[in-house]
Amino acid sequence: MSDLLSLVQARAGAAPVRLGLILGSGLGHLAAAVQGVAIPYADLPGFPHVGVSGHNPNLVIGDLEGVRVAVFGAREHYYENGNPAAMRPALELLKALGAEALIATNAAGSLRPDIPPGELMLLSDHLNFSGLNPLIGEKTDARFVPMGDAHDPALRAALRAAAEAEGVALPEGVYTWYSGPSFETPAEIRAIKILGGDAVGMSTVPEVILARFLGLRVAAISTITNMAQGMSDEKISHEHTKAMAPLGAAKLERVLRRFLRGV
Ligand code: HPA
Repeated sequence: MSDLLSLVQARAGAAPVRLGLILGSGLGHLAAAVQGVAIPYADLPGFPHVGVSGHNPNLVIGDLEGVRVAVFGAREHYYENGNPAAMRPALELLKALGAEALIATNAAGSLRPDIPPGELMLLSDHLNFSGLNPLIGEKTDARFVPMGDAHDPALRAALRAAAEAEGVALPEGVYTWYSGPSFETPAEIRAIKILGGDAVGMSTVPEVILARFLGLRVAAISTITNMAQGMSDEKISHEHTKAMAPLGAAKLERVLRRFLRGV
């Protein structure tokens, strides 16, 4: 870690970072909003070799609305290499850079007709529908992470207030982690609905667990790109996800900028 930290601080400066931001599918362009230094993941030992199209594999450290942030332009998903802890080195770096909090973003399918494609959803909580955990194999007692307020109430309140000030709807809901890479079946979506899921996606939950393990406060926002399988006639595909994500991305950028002006 100290080598990675030195390398990053040599390129981006040693001033502490306050907040980390992970960008989901189709949201990579938000990294361009940051005035700072972009470091390709390929230069960062331990960082994922991200192969999912629609992601931007750079770490950008710099200023957004006067706040020093670290923006992770891409994530490794469990379905890429079967490693639920793939983002651990990146989140350890974020912690070492001095950050207090992480905001994760993703693209997701909605199970709620009142949260249609193009809308945002703030995660009030999550369901781990995968049976996986990024802390399996961790040897210290710190692995027993309480998850009661994993989605930080104060951060969520601040994000809701920012959304309201921007006139952007930000309903809260429960996000369900499905391993992917195949999409869900209609029966799985019906099951997730019964279990209390409001949206479904293939990421974020392992990062929330890792961030809590590292003592970072966390909030996460989904951009809804489609209704979940079986809930509409629209065809679900990765192409469609990438095409739809920018609809929510513009609103997400406004909410995040307003939120940062208040931190
Ligand atoms: N399911 C899983 N992941 C997704 C979806 C979905 O419907 N849409 C965008 N990411």
